[in-house]
Amino acid sequence: MALRNTTFHYLLLFLQLCLTICISSALNSISTNQTLSGEQQLTSEAGNFTLGFFTKSNSSSKFYIGIWYSRVSKLNPVWVANRAIPVSDKSKSVLQISQDGNLILLNQDKSHIWSTNATISSNSTVAVLGDDGSLVLRDENNSSKVFWRSIEDPADTWLPGGKIVFNKTTGVSQKLISWKNSENPAPGLFSLELDPVGRQYLLKWNGTETYYKTGSWNGEIFSGVPEMRKSYIYDFNYVDDPQQSYFIYYVNDSSMISRFIMDVSGQIKMLNWIDISQEWIEFWFKPSTPCEVTRLCGAFGSCTEQADQSCSCLRGFSPNSEEDWNLSDHSGGCKRNIQLQCNKFFQMSSVKLPVNGQSLQVGGEDECELACLSNCSCTAYSYSTNCTVWYGELINLQDQYSESDAGTLQLRLNAAELPSSNSKKGTKGIILGVVVGAVAACLVCVTVLWILIWRRKRSKLITASKLVEGTLTAFRYIELQRITKNFSEKLGVGGFGSVFKGVLPDSTAIAVKKLAGLSQGEKQFRTEVSTIGTIQHVNLARLRGFCSEDSERLLVYDYMPNGSLDAHLLHNTSHVLSWSTRYQIALGTARGLAYLHEKCRDCIIHCDIKPENILLDDSFVPKVSDFGLAKLMGRDFSRVLTTMRGTRGYLAPEWISGVPITPKADVYSYGMMLFEIISGRRNTEQVEKEGPAAFFPRVAARKLIEGEVLSLLDPRLGGETNEEEVIRACKVACWCIQDDEAFRPTMGLVVQILEGVQEVNMPAIPRSLEVFSEDDKNIVFFSDSSSSHTPQMNSATSNSSQTKSTSSARSLTREE
Ligand SMILES: *[C@@H]1O[C@H](CO)[C@@H](O)[C@H](O)[C@H]1NC(C)=O
Ligand SMILES: *[C@@H]1O[C@H](CO)[C@@H](O)[C@H](O)[C@H]1NC(C)=O
Ligand SMILES: *[C@@H]1O[C@H](CO)[C@@H](O)[C@H](O)[C@H]1NC(C)=O
Ligand SMILES: *[C@@H]1O[C@H](CO)[C@@H](O)[C@H](O)[C@H]1NC(C)=O
Ligand SMILES: *[C@@H]1O[C@H](CO)[C@@H](O)[C@H](O)[C@H]1NC(C)=O
Ligand SMILES: *[C@@H]1O[C@H](CO)[C@@H](O)[C@H](O)[C@H]1NC(C)=O
Ligand SMILES: *[C@@H]1O[C@H](CO)[C@@H](O)[C@H](O)[C@H]1NC(C)=O
Ligand SMILES: *[C@@H]1O[C@H](CO)[C@@H](O)[C@H](O)[C@H]1NC(C)=O
Ligand SMILES: *[C@@H]1O[C@H](CO)[C@@H](O)[C@H](O)[C@H]1NC(C)=O
Ligand SMILES: *[C@@H]1O[C@H](CO)[C@@H](O)[C@H](O)[C@H]1NC(C)=O
Ligand SMILES: *[C@@H]1O[C@H](CO)[C@@H](O)[C@H](O)[C@H]1NC(C)=O
Ligand SMILES: *[C@@H]1O[C@H](CO)[C@@H](O)[C@H](O)[C@H]1NC(C)=O
Repeated sequence: MALRNTTFHYLLLFLQLCLTICISSALNSISTNQTLSGEQQLTSEAGNFTLGFFTKSNSSSKFYIGIWYSRVSKLNPVWVANRAIPVSDKSKSVLQISQDGNLILLNQDKSHIWSTNATISSNSTVAVLGDDGSLVLRDENNSSKVFWRSIEDPADTWLPGGKIVFNKTTGVSQKLISWKNSENPAPGLFSLELDPVGRQYLLKWNGTETYYKTGSWNGEIFSGVPEMRKSYIYDFNYVDDPQQSYFIYYVNDSSMISRFIMDVSGQIKMLNWIDISQEWIEFWFKPSTPCEVTRLCGAFGSCTEQADQSCSCLRGFSPNSEEDWNLSDHSGGCKRNIQLQCNKFFQMSSVKLPVNGQSLQVGGEDECELACLSNCSCTAYSYSTNCTVWYGELINLQDQYSESDAGTLQLRLNAAELPSSNSKKGTKGIILGVVVGAVAACLVCVTVLWILIWRRKRSKLITASKLVEGTLTAFRYIELQRITKNFSEKLGVGGFGSVFKGVLPDSTAIAVKKLAGLSQGEKQFRTEVSTIGTIQHVNLARLRGFCSEDSERLLVYDYMPNGSLDAHLLHNTSHVLSWSTRYQIALGTARGLAYLHEKCRDCIIHCDIKPENILLDDSFVPKVSDFGLAKLMGRDFSRVLTTMRGTRGYLAPEWISGVPITPKADVYSYGMMLFEIISGRRNTEQVEKEGPAAFFPRVAARKLIEGEVLSLLDPRLGGETNEEEVIRACKVACWCIQDDEAFRPTMGLVVQILEGVQEVNMPAIPRSLEVFSEDDKNIVFFSDSSSSHTPQMNSATSNSSQTKSTSSARSLTREE
């Protein structure tokens, strides 16, 4: 028996060897009588793509036939054959051309688990892997007789040149379907498909519930995506012929690896591979906030935009499947920790209320509560002017929600799950109150005593640890923990970590930034930090100190009472920044950046200019914060930068194309921010009366040329402004966002222009914004960038690359 087994084993080995020889590693096709199994792979001719068996999970033995990027160090399959039916033994599974000419996959039991399923009219077919990432099944001797293409049968990835089609003959729309989770390619719950009537793409949950629309194609772009723009890199079009409708895009840059995916998060994303950082950068996605994805966190889950992790379970609940949650699949939702026995409510304020509540006509809040209590399946109620109750699962609840439709939800829970101080209106409320009161009184005594003791200890500690490096204080971690009351008062969350308020013993308020995910050694960290510490300018946030202990890295800054610019500019606040304040903020920020770029010993590129990083002191003097972190964070930086919500709109095109970053990248971001300072809203927000193609910078560039700049101004200013300054700011902003960095002014020049020392010419519309529609015909655009469009302000701006600009000049008007 044993002998037989061994013989069989050798036989298998021999067979495998034979197969390996039959398919050498450089092959890019499978033809009749050839097979692919085990470790064998196909590689496309120029080596862009590889086809073979893969798995994303280390623990399980689930293998899939897929195509992935050969030149990307991460395994990112762009296509998967047997999405839902993995094979468990890849060396016994075979991909081959079947009798009928189709490409088929047989598993370890030789069962037929996947097929190209095409109608073949040829005696001999071959499957060829192309450099565009598409596997093509065609006639062996006639390459134009194609029966099937993987690029037209996509999984979750829409490659350049591919299309997601609505077939007018069958009335069926093709679907791009997300993976089940980050390791399992089986079809998940989120999909993208074309709505031929609306000429738009829809995102749907479970094939039914639409949660996002791109807005209809207006001949140039999808109206809900005003930031869409053609460029010399990206080209796209919507095709509507008698047989089918589809959208198609191309990437005209052979050095760029770009993909579009329907992500596990329910968002569609465009990603580019950045070789330097070995990371994918997510430079565009929709919906623009994760919580807009319906049912993202499942039943009794809650979505929040304030944290890195979007989903959490409501109080008293925990994930149905922790494993799924760990793999970014939250659709299973949450279950109660304890079955409901007695009836209490937990109050959640500032939430976006779940969908599908039912309105009840009742007399008051007590009756509303009673109504919920009297029904066993009632899980929550909310009372404002009306009474709303929810039966069964709570879906699409969003936490820490600040919009005007935020409400207060009373969640039905077991008493054991309630925090003791928050127990609301129970029959035992009064007794509980008395007990709580007594306990609290005791606590106060103890706390006072403790604080007295602790203060003494603390003052000792602080004097003990004044290890001063230059002008910087080296803090101990335990000290910062106390100063910030154990990191309890969070001022905000940024890409590099959270910021907490603290008060030094001398009552100076400070902001402590806890850096997340920093892998740098202590010595290097100290070196970088002391460099940052030497940089002082009235418009730069002042670094006071730092802490570097074990794996903790913290930075200590002056506290800025007026917070960051975005809070005053972009959110609805009662206090509106006046024009003169705005202008001073723009000028101050420019001065701070000019100092970083030009006056420091080593030029510092900020890399992350946006309103969130402009802090305002008590007299609204701007302080640029977070400078120097790009270098400090090193390789982590581009990851942080590009996964950070709300950063993308400010990124210069060179970030996306992967060419080296210069200070001009900051100039671009500054320009984008300047537009927001003028308009008082995010550039990507719709401009209602301007219609669909209204990406703000585009509208602004046009109005500037039309001489209608004042119409761009934040309406909250009520027209109170200085027209000349507005025009100047607008021109500067438009120059700053030129595609070609050679045409952007330096920050020093921006300062001079804003100060009124330098005059500035009318800018050209940046090429990438030059998408215009029928009714714009009467407007004359500068559509080619001849030298007349270089800013004639200062020789420093345009002493370079004319060649570069002309090569990329291209008219973007197209006839359909
Ligand atoms: C495939 O194998 C069969 C039988 O082994 C043979 O008759 C046929 O000619 C082969 N076809 C090709 C294209 O090699
Ligand atoms: C698989 O292994 C990689 C690296 O070895 C690790 O980062 C990843 O977390 C592992 N995944 C699982 C599911 O264990
Ligand atoms: C193959 O195609 C036929 C008709 O074209 C269809 O009925 C069948 O479901 C398909 N099978 C698979 C596995 O896709
Ligand atoms: C397939 O082969 C048969 C004979 O072997 C021949 O008669 C027929 O024309 C061939 N068909 C095609 C499409 O080549
Ligand atoms: C394809 O061409 C090869 C050689 O040119 C020939 O041997 C073979 O019969 C052809 N196959 C078909 C199906 O025409
Ligand atoms: C190849 O196939 C195409 C399309 O089926 C056909 O038009 C063409 O004549 C074929 N060429 C040859 C050489 O058979
Ligand atoms: C539409 O579907 C039919 C039936 O599957 C198919 O024959 C036809 O080629 C499809 N049309 C397009 C344009 O793909
Ligand atoms: C998705 O829809 C199918 C029916 O179309 C249903 O059976 C299934 O339960 C739904 N999935 C979820 C997670 O609700
Ligand atoms: C593609 O880019 C090159 C330069 O990068 C340019 O010359 C060419 O015109 C572009 N083609 C298209 C179709 O945009
Ligand atoms: C693959 O290779 C071709 C030719 O070598 C190149 O033009 C193309 O841009 C590459 N495609 C990708 C996605 O890398
Ligand atoms: C999920 O992740 C957490 C933290 O990484 C880990 O402690 C836990 O064991 C994981 N659970 C499962 C089921 O994988
Ligand atoms: C309350 O209910 C009344 C009548 O059903 C309705 O008209 C009103 O809009 C509701 N108010 C709110 C805040 O939902």
